[in-house]
Amino acid sequence: MLEITVSTRNEVIDRAVRQTRRQLAKLASMPPSGEIEFPYVTNKGRYMMEDKWSSGFFIGLLYRLCQLTGDPLYIKAADRLIGRIEPYKNQGDYQDIGFLFYYSYALGYNLTGQEEYRKVALEAADNLFAARLPGGYLECNWLPEGKRYAGVDSMMNIRLWLWAYRVTGEERYRAAAARSAQITSAALMREDGFTYEYMRMDAATGAPEQPYNKNAKFSSESVWARGHTWALYGAVQMYILGHEEGWRTKVKKLSEFYLSHVCTDGVPAWDLMLSGEDTAMRDASAAAIACSAFYQFAAALSPEDPLRQPFRQEAERILDTLTSAEYAPSDPEHEGVLVHASTPLHVVQAAGESQIWGDYFLLESLYYSLEVGSK
Ligand code: GLY
Repeated sequence: MLEITVSTRNEVIDRAVRQTRRQLAKLASMPPSGEIEFPYVTNKGRYMMEDKWSSGFFIGLLYRLCQLTGDPLYIKAADRLIGRIEPYKNQGDYQDIGFLFYYSYALGYNLTGQEEYRKVALEAADNLFAARLPGGYLECNWLPEGKRYAGVDSMMNIRLWLWAYRVTGEERYRAAAARSAQITSAALMREDGFTYEYMRMDAATGAPEQPYNKNAKFSSESVWARGHTWALYGAVQMYILGHEEGWRTKVKKLSEFYLSHVCTDGVPAWDLMLSGEDTAMRDASAAAIACSAFYQFAAALSPEDPLRQPFRQEAERILDTLTSAEYAPSDPEHEGVLVHASTPLHVVQAAGESQIWGDYFLLESLYYSLEVGSK
């Protein structure tokens, strides 16, 4: 059984190598447009190149491939491309510079120790302070009235501050991440493990006023699957920061809610409230995010903690599903690695497509499956 798992996982890594080389060749042949364009989502199996919040994930994927294969080619490729992201470091009111710079420059520094990467990632972390609203949560500047909303994605964006704290030891980064996570979790994560995507906040007091969904609109009680796993992943990072019992409990609650709202194959529908219908469109990227979070949580718990084994086993089970032929098929024509990373909103309208963050978190999960701690 173990051999089957190992060889299937290795086949997926081999496939990621082939697909990534294809994207690298495409990027090399694209004339510079002045925009940052990286693989974003597939449309009929072809990666579209766009300028989006997600552009750091292709660079992060190169780093994970280097870790999984030992091939320095990916470090060199990342070094050729990473500069396309740098101009974004000045967009301090755009909270997604947390996504952009953690998965590119910060991860690059972790892997290579290159001083220039550290410098740029810290500049972005400093500029991210400009996105803080009174109280200390992050502005959602893509929403009308974004200065009045707390959003679930911010649980991921603060990872840039957590990284900055780890490499500098400066308290201001830890305090900013902890404050934003505290406000966001109080506003968006309910006691029963249910999450809201956004919450309108009272502009004067910062008190939660009214939930709002942009991505999942199946019903007024919708839970956006990917948003829920962003919350879960962010809560795991907060647990790793200080091993606080409150975050351990939060991770447990969010995970229980998630696991009781996935389809029978263990992958959620794009809206968790649709997972009871097995024909619902899946978002396998949410499963990949949860899988990596579960591995990291298990690794951070003490060996005696009763949650450690169940979380590790759940991560293994999800990874087996995501590396199966259903979710990582060997079709050479399809340019993504993880399929059914789809939501019926915005650009991806059909099942069977890929999203760069789905491919990234699949590789990140494969990396953490090797029993390494979080970094
Ligand atoms: N902006 C984050 C997401 O779409 O998942």
